[in-house]
Amino acid sequence: MGGAWKIQAPGKINLHLRVGARRIDGYHELESIFLCLDFGDTLWFETGEPGYGESGCSIEFAEGSAPVWARALTPDRNIIARTAALFRERTGFDKSLRVRLEKRIPLGGGMGGGSSDAASTLIALDALAGTALSRDVLRDMAAALGSDVPFFLTGGAALVSGRGEIVESIETSGYASWRRGVPFWVVLVNPGFSSDTGEAYALLDEARRKGTAESGWTVEGEVLGKALEKHPAFWPYGNDFLPVFLIPGPGGDMTSSGKAYRDILEDLRILGADFSGLSGAGSTCFGIFSQKEAAEQAVQLLLRRHMFVELTIPLARSVKAVLQ
Ligand code: C5P
Repeated sequence: MGGAWKIQAPGKINLHLRVGARRIDGYHELESIFLCLDFGDTLWFETGEPGYGESGCSIEFAEGSAPVWARALTPDRNIIARTAALFRERTGFDKSLRVRLEKRIPLGGGMGGGSSDAASTLIALDALAGTALSRDVLRDMAAALGSDVPFFLTGGAALVSGRGEIVESIETSGYASWRRGVPFWVVLVNPGFSSDTGEAYALLDEARRKGTAESGWTVEGEVLGKALEKHPAFWPYGNDFLPVFLIPGPGGDMTSSGKAYRDILEDLRILGADFSGLSGAGSTCFGIFSQKEAAEQAVQLLLRRHMFVELTIPLARSVKAVLQ
């Protein structure tokens, strides 16, 4: 593809994720710390031959994409095609679009892969079409595509609230002030199954109805953002989905996904993580390491048991399209 716009679409983890009550529109109020990672998908965009179906968009998978994920992302299930269709509808852009995607972020893994691809598609289309859309218009389209998409227009680290559309950047110059340079290392472990976000919210609601899971906020938003400056061992963060997955069933046994999360998180702690957690509504677990050597050793050991183990660092910059 000559003259293509290239974008690195970063993955994210939720260092913190509290879920409030279900609203009348069916969504839940959130309070979350999102962190962009230096690990993600790569996308190339260029205008192509006319006529690629209704979205006018063809998507091919670059070498390096996990074949099983590429097969799962048929055009009707691919948020990139939906993003292109929405952009066309809102701006009148009428050229066809060719997209090449190197898919590395696990599907249904709570790392915002689809949402990041969608935000990247919006940014690329704005550049390709020369529309120079305002932040507000882009944010509006992003929110229509999915709850996590607005965050990826901003990137870095952010306190996210509302349904996901209120994104307040956390000043990364002040963050992790206990250390200069790379503030910490992130070890990602995906257990090899995906988690359905809608189902996870339904499970959480049911557990709260039955009184087996707690509701409500424990820490003020402002305090949460400031806490990122502290050493990870002192972060006051948590994930409301995790205890729900760990609740034993009627027979007294934990579900297989609950057991997988429990074991991975325990391994991460034993291997020296200063903080560990579940991202989003699952299924990727992460460990935060203040020592690079410990993180590298943990990766080697975890790779013996899991297919997907990655070592990465936080990504401070926002997403930009680069013309190649
Ligand atoms: O917006 P998105 O398509 O990512 O959401 C997937 C599902 O997750 C929604 O249909 C809803 O059931 C649930 N959700 C929610 N509250 C949020 C975000 C998502 O209940 N804030």
